[in-house]
Amino acid sequence: MPKISDPITIRDMEVKNRFGYPPCLTSSSDLEGRPTQRTINGYEVKARGGVGIMTYEAAQVDPWAKGGMGANIGNDENIPAYKNLTDIVHKYGTKIGMQINKMGMIGYTFGGLMGIFAPANIGPSSIGVGHASSAFEFMIPAWGETIRSKDLKVKELTIEEISGIQDLYAAGAKRVIQAGFDYVLVHSAHGTLPCSFLSPYFNHRTDKYGGTIEKRCQFIKETVAKMREAIGDIPPIMVRISADELVHDGNRIEDSIVIAKQLEKAGVDCIDVSQGIILRSPFGITIPTYCEYGCYIHLPEAIKKAVNIPVMGVGNINDPRMADEFIQQGKADIINMGRQLICDPDTPNKYFNDEIDDIKRCIGCLQSCGTCVYDIYSGLDYKELTPSGELKKIVVLGAGIAGMEAARVLKLRGHAVDIYEKSNKVGGLMPLLAAEYKKERFMLMVDWLETQLKKLNVPVYLNRDLSREQVEASNPDILVIAAGSEATIPVKLKDKPNVITQDESILKSKPMGKNVVIWGLNAFWKGGLETVTTLGEQGYNIKALMGSNTIVGQLLMGNAGRRMYLLRYLRDKKIHVYTKAKLLDVTEEGVKFLDENQEEQFIEADTLVYCGSRIANGKALKEKFEGTAPEIVLIGDCKRPRDIKEAMADAQKFARSLK
Ligand SMILES: Cc1cc2nc3c(=O)[nH]c(=O)nc-3n(C[C@H](O)[C@H](O)[C@H](O)COP(=O)(O)OP(=O)(O)OC[C@H]3O[C@@H](n4cnc5c(N)ncnc54)[C@H](O)[C@@H]3O)c2cc1C
Ligand SMILES: Cc1cc2nc3c(=O)[nH]c(=O)nc-3n(C[C@H](O)[C@H](O)[C@H](O)COP(=O)(O)O)c2cc1C
Repeated sequence: MPKISDPITIRDMEVKNRFGYPPCLTSSSDLEGRPTQRTINGYEVKARGGVGIMTYEAAQVDPWAKGGMGANIGNDENIPAYKNLTDIVHKYGTKIGMQINKMGMIGYTFGGLMGIFAPANIGPSSIGVGHASSAFEFMIPAWGETIRSKDLKVKELTIEEISGIQDLYAAGAKRVIQAGFDYVLVHSAHGTLPCSFLSPYFNHRTDKYGGTIEKRCQFIKETVAKMREAIGDIPPIMVRISADELVHDGNRIEDSIVIAKQLEKAGVDCIDVSQGIILRSPFGITIPTYCEYGCYIHLPEAIKKAVNIPVMGVGNINDPRMADEFIQQGKADIINMGRQLICDPDTPNKYFNDEIDDIKRCIGCLQSCGTCVYDIYSGLDYKELTPSGELKKIVVLGAGIAGMEAARVLKLRGHAVDIYEKSNKVGGLMPLLAAEYKKERFMLMVDWLETQLKKLNVPVYLNRDLSREQVEASNPDILVIAAGSEATIPVKLKDKPNVITQDESILKSKPMGKNVVIWGLNAFWKGGLETVTTLGEQGYNIKALMGSNTIVGQLLMGNAGRRMYLLRYLRDKKIHVYTKAKLLDVTEEGVKFLDENQEEQFIEADTLVYCGSRIANGKALKEKFEGTAPEIVLIGDCKRPRDIKEAMADAQKFARSLK
C-alpha cells in the first residue's frame, strides 16, 4: 500500500504526495469574485508548506453571482486574476484545481442569513423550504418563522433551465482551465444544486432526472459530459459528493456507492468524499471538536472499494501520522486536511522533515477558520516575523496561552524573556476548559506552546507569585501582565452554599448536588451550553438552563456545527431552556426566577451553577506593579475576558509591536 509521501496520478496529472487541501471558503474575494492579496496569502502559505494537491474554494459559475457572494468564475474578466494565483501556487510544485458551484438550496445558508431568499430558490423539485432547511429552522427560530410566513417553496427547474445551467458549468470549467488550474471539481456535496439532484429528499422528479438513483445521477453525468467537451481531453474532472447526507431521508453510503460507480462510468477522474447537508446536517461539514478524529473515513473507504479511480477522504484529521495510516490502510488515496492546513500550512513539510512536535494541531474549535485562532498573522493575514532591532529584558506574569504566546514570539524576535506563573501548571484556563465534555483537544494548543518554549529555552517558573520587590530586582524593560480572569457570582448570591461558579462545577472544587440548574446563556464566551453537556454526561440531573438573553448560545451563532450539536443535546435530553429569565433567589430547596412572561417560577434543585461574566485580573495587578518597570503591558483575559483567539492575538500584537 502507498504512503502519504508517495506520488499519485489522477488521469495524467502527477501529484507529488497525497496530502490534500479541500475547498474552504475564505470570504476574501473582491466584489467581482476575484482573489485578493489575502486570498493569495491563504493559498500560497499552504503550497509552500508542501501539500500535494489543493482545491480552490467554491466559485460561482453564474455571471451575476458576485458582489459579496464569494469567488466567481462566471466571467472571462476574472481569468487573469486567477491565473496570477495559479502561477504562484505552481512555483511550489503543488497541483491546484477549482471547485465550481451553482448555488441551489445551499444559497439559503448565505442568502437566508442576509434576508435574501430569491436567488437560490431553485432545485430539482418544488419542495417546501422550511423542512429543507430544518437545521437552520432549528437553530434560528426567526428563520423558520420568515420561511413559514412567506410559504417559501423551491422553484422546480424546467428541462430548458437545466440545460442552460449545465452550459454554465461547461463555460465555468473552461475558464478554470484557462486560468491555469490543473483540474476542475464540481461541488456536488453539502446541498448544492447537483447534490440536490442526487438526493432523494430534494429530488422528486419523474422525468429523466429523477426516480431511481441512476436517474438522479443524470444531471451530473450530463454536466460532466458538457464540461469534458469544453475543456478537452487532458485536465481531470473531479466531483465532490456527500457520501452520507447524515439525515434519515437523504443519501446514505449504500446509495453513494451506486452514485460513485455512475460517476466513474461518466468519466469522472476522482471522487472527493465529504458528508452532510449544510441546511440539514451542518455538523458533517463544519465538524465540531466533540467528534472523533477521522470520524468519516469509513465513507471514502467504502467508495474506494467500489471504484477504480482515486478517492479523497476528509474530516477531522489533524495528525499527518493518522493521515498516513489511512492511506496505508487503503481507506483513501488522498487525505484532505482542511482546518489542519489552515491551522498549520507547514504540516506536510514538518512531517516529511520529522518535526512532528512543531506541528500546530487544529483543536476543531470552528471559531475562526480563515485566520486560525492560534495566530492572527497566519493564513489570509500572513505576515512574516522579523527580528527586533532593540533587544529588551521582559518579564511575563502568567503562563496561560497569552503569556506563553507572547514569550514565544518575543524570544523568536531576539528578546530575553522569563515567565513567572502563580499556579503549579502552565495553560491557565485551558486545562479547565479541556475538562469540559469532549474538549480535551484544546490542550493541543498548550502542548505546542510548552514544547516551543522549551525548544527556545524560555524559562517558565511555576508556583511563583512575584512581589513588587521581586519584579523590581529582576530589572525588566517591560513587565507583561497576562494573569487572566476570575469567575464571579453576583453579590446577592455570593454567600449561598449551593451556588457555585462554572469553574468550580468543572473542577469539582465545591460540593455539588445531583439536581442542577445552570444559569447563563451567553455570558463569557458561550455561557453554560457546554456546562450542560459536561455535567449532563457526568450523570448530573440538569433540571434547566436559563439566562437573561433571548437566544441560546448566540455567541456561537456563526458556528453551525458546534452550536447545532449543543442544541440537539438540549433537545434530546429534554432539558428545558428559559430565555429572557430573571433570577430572583436561590434557596436550599431550589431556584426562584421570573420567566419570559414575567411569571414567577420555582425549580427544585440542589445546586445552581452560575456561568456568568468574569472579572479581569489586570487592572489591580497593574496598580500593584506600577513603577517596577518602565513599561507595563496587559494582554489576554486580564485586559478583558474574551476568548482564545483574542488572548493569542493580544500576545502577537504586543510581541510584534516592539521595534
Ligand atoms: C469553562 C470555560 C470554557 C471556555 N471555552 C472556550 C472555548 O471553547 N473557546 C474559546 O475561545 N475560549 C474559551 N474560554 C475562554 C478561554 O479559556 C480564555 O479566554 C483564555 O484561556 C484566556 O487566556 P489567558 O492566557 O489570557 O488567561 P488565563 O488562561 O486565565 O491564564 C492566566 C494565567 O495567569 C496566572 N496568574 C494569575 N495571576 C498571576 C500572577 N499574579 N502572577 C503570575 N501568574 C498569575 C494564572 O494562574 C493563569 O495560569 C473558556 C473559558 C472557560 C472558563
Ligand atoms: C471555513 C470552512 C469553509 C468551507 N468551505 C467549503 C467549500 O467552499 N466547499 C466545500 O466543498 N467544502 C467546504 N468546507 C468543508 C471542508 O472542505 C472540509 O470538508 C471540512 O472542513 C472537513 O475537513 P477538516 O476537518 O479537515 O477541516 C468548508 C469548511 C470550513 C471549515
